[in-house]
Amino acid sequence: MSDKKTFYITTPIYYPSDNLHIGHAYTTVAADTMTRYKKMRGFDAYFLTGSDEHGQKIQRRAAAAGKSEIEFVDEIIANFKQLWKVLLIENDDFIRTTEPRHQQVCQELFQKIYDQGDIYKSEYEGWYCTSCETFFTELQLAEGHTCPDCGKSVEKAKEESYFFKMGKYADRWLKFIEDNPDFIRPESRRNEMVNFVKQGLDDLCVSRTTFDWGIPVPFDQKHVIYVWFDALINYYSALKGTGDGSLADKYWPADVHLVGKDIIRFHTIIWPIMLMAAGLPLPQCVLGHGWVLTGDAKMSKSRGNVVDPLLLCDRYGVDAVRYFLMREMPYGLDCNFTEELMALRINTDLANDYGNLLSRITGMIDKFQGGVVIAPSDKTEFDDELIELAQATPQRFAELMDIMEWSNALIELWKLVGKANKYIDDTAPWALNKNGESGKLAAVLYNIVEVLRLVTVMASPVMPSLAPRVWKQLNISERAELHSWDSLSWGLYPAGTKIDRGEPLFPRIDMEAIQAAAHEDAAAAAAEAEAAAAAMAVIEPIAAECGIEDFEKLDLRVVQVLECEKIEKSDKLLKFVVDLGVERRVVVSGIAKYYQPEQLLGKKLVLIANLKPIKLRGVESHGMLLSAGNEQRGFTVMPAPDVPCGSRIL
Ligand code: MSP
Repeated sequence: MSDKKTFYITTPIYYPSDNLHIGHAYTTVAADTMTRYKKMRGFDAYFLTGSDEHGQKIQRRAAAAGKSEIEFVDEIIANFKQLWKVLLIENDDFIRTTEPRHQQVCQELFQKIYDQGDIYKSEYEGWYCTSCETFFTELQLAEGHTCPDCGKSVEKAKEESYFFKMGKYADRWLKFIEDNPDFIRPESRRNEMVNFVKQGLDDLCVSRTTFDWGIPVPFDQKHVIYVWFDALINYYSALKGTGDGSLADKYWPADVHLVGKDIIRFHTIIWPIMLMAAGLPLPQCVLGHGWVLTGDAKMSKSRGNVVDPLLLCDRYGVDAVRYFLMREMPYGLDCNFTEELMALRINTDLANDYGNLLSRITGMIDKFQGGVVIAPSDKTEFDDELIELAQATPQRFAELMDIMEWSNALIELWKLVGKANKYIDDTAPWALNKNGESGKLAAVLYNIVEVLRLVTVMASPVMPSLAPRVWKQLNISERAELHSWDSLSWGLYPAGTKIDRGEPLFPRIDMEAIQAAAHEDAAAAAAEAEAAAAAMAVIEPIAAECGIEDFEKLDLRVVQVLECEKIEKSDKLLKFVVDLGVERRVVVSGIAKYYQPEQLLGKKLVLIANLKPIKLRGVESHGMLLSAGNEQRGFTVMPAPDVPCGSRIL
């Protein structure tokens, strides 16, 4: 058995409802970077990611896509795995919550907590955001009965449920945080969570009965386990549910759960309390990172501002994408993404500072020394300062990596790259060559090669495919002992080596082309919006007069959308199930061009309730939803969210 220290790191398990964007990629690249770094430092590191496949949202999306839930998720998971491959993610395991190994552990923990009296049956009455799969009280909602987290409409829920006695654990949780101040990082988020818990913790609703896509409550099959309760257990079930469960003995508790700031409450309050109740040790740390923003908004599919990581990898190379993400997100804060920012960062740090250093130095070694790196036999007045910094950098870099301040670690590392560039300017090797000062020339060229070796070793967890290309150029591909963390002491590069100059590592990106493309995109979007607005501006003439008695024949009612899906083989029609207060109705409406089904879920609309039913594409539509629009744009009429279902409009 190995006596290496273990390091267990996880990303959240992703919802298979969207294709992943670079915001998601950030978490996974960060966890992969950390794992590679820890392995390089001699740890037995284990990295888990996966997918969160249950819940009402998935069930509805699968239904809207006309697929079974498992068919629906299988396809998306295949895309996830492909993306992780392209991003050079080397996870040790990928857990799916639909796997039996997870279901079993999840049910066991639920049963255990129930048996000891911490789960009880009652009735839930409140609000539910299907998009976030989160319960809210009336008071927690944002304006207009919307979700305080994602801003979408929430749905009223009233159903028999099991509850988890979270409230009982509040004091124990506060004490734990006091004793383990590094459990929640950064500090600002810890303070936020502590204030939240100090206001008192409600018991948590942990089962649902209004749909069935989930893990059944083991002792009451009519209920499925609340999707967050189910999902959080993945971190443990991936170990405990695998083989004989010995992975759990080895790796549990986790060293780091890496999560975005939007899900920090689940991970720092609910999850540790679940573990306390289950009698399991708590993780060392939950690190809540910021968001990748586009403009001022979080990148997300529903906002339509997502950037596809595959496209970026194709355009700029995977190392550059990974470097950008790890360098650009400041510790604990958000970062902005635009392609211009990305191109600028690549040009500055990678093409100019790093790539150019390598190509200049290998060019000079070729030209002045016949391609051979010669042992220094003299020194310049600038050498000591460079070598001192090179010797001090690994420790500074490691200190920042150890506390997961990746951006600061890279800033520290690039100080050495900057110093090496300045050293070339200061020592002017071309002049040393011209003046026949070959001892000094050899020293300068050797020192830069050695700096490049050290920087490349340290940068390799962030840019895994860079190092092999550099080792090839420096002709030390076979010398693994020169690529390791232990090799980070000065002067190990073997003098006398003939280098193998290659292509530039990071070709400069044409900023003008990027800017022109960005302007073109913006212009096209503006033109489209203008055309749509102009089309709306063509107002139809007012229809012929009618009496109030004609209007009164129509029975207009406020309804709430319970279900909404596209009708197969029709690009116009959506099929709705709406709540009319006294009954549920199926209605077909020709607004599929303007809305995605999920945009309308939970919304209040207006129905002409007394129209004779008609059949549209085989579906009997009983009523008509009011909408305005034309070929280009359309809107449904939406009354205020708090108007009760069934209210008559007069
Ligand atoms: N399924 C839950 C997690 C359950 S873990 C027990 C979930 N999934 S998610 O797919 O919506 O998000 C996964 C992770 O991606 C979260 O940590 C989230 O914060 C992160 N990100 C999603 N969009 C992001 C950005 N725009 N920027 C950075 N991270 C973002 O939540």
